[in-house]
Amino acid sequence: MAARIIAGNWKMNGLAAALPEVARIADAAHDVTGVETVIAPPVTLLPRVARHDGITPAAQDCHAADAGAHTGDLSAPMLAEAGARTEILGHSERRANHAERDVQVAGKVRAAWGAGLRAILCIGETEAQYRGGRTVEVLARQLAASLPEGATPENTIVAYEPVWAIGTGITLREDEIERVHRTLRDRLAARFAQGAEVSLLYGGSVSAENAASIFALRNVDGALVGGASLTAGKFVPIMNALAEKGAYA
Ligand code: 13P
Repeated sequence: MAARIIAGNWKMNGLAAALPEVARIADAAHDVTGVETVIAPPVTLLPRVARHDGITPAAQDCHAADAGAHTGDLSAPMLAEAGARTEILGHSERRANHAERDVQVAGKVRAAWGAGLRAILCIGETEAQYRGGRTVEVLARQLAASLPEGATPENTIVAYEPVWAIGTGITLREDEIERVHRTLRDRLAARFAQGAEVSLLYGGSVSAENAASIFALRNVDGALVGGASLTAGKFVPIMNALAEKGAYA
């Protein structure tokens, strides 16, 4: 069975004043059984987030090279040294704002693995692609081109985030989430020896209100959460909802 994981992506949010929220989330995580809780703060807070046990500290990006003349960038070994154990890679905001393409994302995944970090690979279709009936085609291309050979359940998590569901309050229809996750599971199983065990997260406007019904769906092993991960009050109920998911869904 794939591991159950809740990951909070803080994006470009969080000054030191937000650290008490991390402490509250870490405290709660000790009581949430069978679920790994990941927090990806801005890099400025990463060493302080990494001091908490009970949560896995994560970064939100890295450069594909380990070192070099790349002003402003951070490498995977640097992020590992700062406390990261996992890295979100290929997020749609990176793909849109920084023109990241699948081939570059694949390079970042390799760099993360090389530094001993697990990758949370993000994939997702735009609204136009969804309306055009191209969701599966787009996801298949992204999965094939941005996930290199060598993916295992230990070094990789896949997060499906429909771009048009991020920060909008929109969630995909439940039967559509199930269909997409089934397709991703099948493709991972066909390509990698242990591909069926890679955790599949859903993301896009996941909240305390909708988490339980999303987690009831087959092949949804957790969530990648943006806005609702910024406070313990909103995030902990999502962690609890995953802990209550039935064993075989
Ligand atoms: P929201 O939960 O704010 O929609 O963000 C989702 C996301 O992009 C997580 O990576």
